[in-house]
Order: sequence, then structure tokens, then C-alpha cells
Amino acid sequence: MGAILSDNKNLAGYWYPLARSTDVLAAPLQRGLLGRKLVLWRNGDGVVSALPDRCPHREAELSRGEVRGDCLVCPYHGWEFAADGQCTRVPSATVGVPAPPKAHLDAYRSQEKYGLIWVCLGDPVADIPAMKWEDDPEFRRINTPFDVWNVSATRMVDNFLDITHFPWVHRGSFGRQDETVVPHVELGALDADFHGYAYEVNANNAAAGTIASGQSVEVVHRRMTSGFNLPLTCRSTIEYDNGLAHILLLLSVPIDDVNSYFNFVVWRRDDFSVQAEDVTRLDFLIGAEDKRMLETFDTILPMDQTSLVSVQADKCSVEWRRQFAALLAK
Ligand code: FES
Ligand SMILES: [Fe+2]
Repeated sequence: MGAILSDNKNLAGYWYPLARSTDVLAAPLQRGLLGRKLVLWRNGDGVVSALPDRCPHREAELSRGEVRGDCLVCPYHGWEFAADGQCTRVPSATVGVPAPPKAHLDAYRSQEKYGLIWVCLGDPVADIPAMKWEDDPEFRRINTPFDVWNVSATRMVDNFLDITHFPWVHRGSFGRQDETVVPHVELGALDADFHGYAYEVNANNAAAGTIASGQSVEVVHRRMTSGFNLPLTCRSTIEYDNGLAHILLLLSVPIDDVNSYFNFVVWRRDDFSVQAEDVTRLDFLIGAEDKRMLETFDTILPMDQTSLVSVQADKCSVEWRRQFAALLAK
């Protein structure tokens, strides 16, 4: 059986974040996306470029090369490539002889948004989802490092839309072991880009939690929403009773069918007095708990309607899976 995600043409039309803007400065960086190897690099003018990480000459990885001025230089024989993929120099060729036509690379579309570098492998069919907090002066944005999770991005999305695992997987951070029953899930549009549900939850508020919630009580009340934007982007919003708000963009990016990048971006309304590392300490703890659980799976989530048993509380992830499966099959 071929790769379900990597070989799917429809997934190529979406934007995927592959690194923080600050991860791509002087040196090129190799990234994987949907079974392909890419090199991200930034030219002398600060322009980001995403190229196939394969030199057309003898297949050396360009990510092992270096940036010189406007060009990425192959480490093997020094051929040079511009941001648009044009081969601008073949050092072994007599002066005046142009590079062979097949020496040019097709650059992928790339753009920087929310402190991240996003790449689209094909013709874009959708925009990067809007996060209205980006332009709200009451909020600050916090970016975090990329991590690799050895699990399918589909398992990650299913998990990020699911709140019934809180008392089990997250008992070491915020999950309340004795509060397992969740309210009836009502699905709807959260805004123009995200579909999901709103709910209320009580969270244990130990250690890292007190910083995240801005309160020192034992249990905090949160008003939350969780939702998805096709194909694989999730968002959770958290509001505490003290007015503090914490918005999480949860990004699952398929390197291939069973390995993924995980990244999250936080928009936060608080008095800006707490350091970013302290604000996100609880999120990292929670992410590590999810990662530990999810890395025990080595397959993509079944996409049909009959292989898994679901209950009312799973409604959001079931709806995402239905829409995602339809997108794959389109
Ligand atoms: S392999 Fe890149 S220049 Fe030869
Ligand atoms: Fe979780």
C-alpha cells in the first residue's frame, strides 16, 4: 500500500509551517514535508526560499551547502542557485557558457506569517488561517521551537480535538482524575476559519499551571474552545475567570505518513510581566504527555467510518476525520 498522506495530491495545495523565521538565518535548513526533502534558506536580502533538497547535478543535499550573497551554494561542486531556483553559476563551466536548462530547480511557494515559515508544495487552494489576535495590541505572540513526533499527523489532530483524555493523559499536569464526564458537544463555526466547539473545564492548577492561569488557587475554571481548519491545523482558546486569555495554534505537519513536526504558537492576553518561557512551561508539559501517548501508535488514524468506535464526546474529531477523509478522496 502506498503512502496515504504523502502520495495524496490534494494535501499539496495547503500551507504548512516548517520552521520559525528565526530558525532560518545564515545557514540552510533541511525539512521534510509529505515525503519530500526540502531546503529552507534565506538570501542576502532576507528573502526566504524553499527548494528541493537535491542538487540536479549529482543529487547532493543543498542543505549541507552554504549561503553566499544571493545564492545557495551546493557543497559538492559549487553550483549556485538563486531564491527562485535558477542555477546562476556552474564553476567548472567556461565563462559565458550558461547553465544547462535542466539545472534550474522549481522553487516551492513560501511565506512568513506568525513568526513561522510556511510552504505550499502545489497551487494554493486555501490561505493560512486568520488569527485575529495577531493584530490585537492586548495580546503578545510567543513562538516555540519545532519538535519531531514519531506519529502520524492524523493521530495528533484527533488528539488535539479531544478533551476526554484530559483526566487520563494529563493527570500529571492539569487533568482532574475525578472529572471524567464532559458536557454535550455542540459543533459549529467558531469563526470564518475554524470549526469546533465550546466547553468549560476545571483544571488542576499546580506549579506551572499557576503561572499560566495567573492564579494560585488549587483548581481553576477555564472557558475553552477547540476546533480545526483543514487539513491538519487545530486551535484551542482558553479564558480564565481573571480575564487572562491564552490562544494556542496547534500545528501538526506531516513529514511523511508516520512522522510529523509539532509546533505551537501562543497569543496571550496578560499584563506581559511573565517571561515567555514561564508562560509556555505548562504547554510544554502537556505536549510531552500527549507525545508520550501518541508515539505508541505507528499507523495513521483509520479514515473509514467503521473501524473505530466513537461516542458523543468524540464528535469534533469524528467530524474532522469525515471532512479530512473527503478531502483526501476528492
Ligand atoms: S552535486 Fe551539486 S554541484 Fe555537483
Ligand atoms: Fe492532550
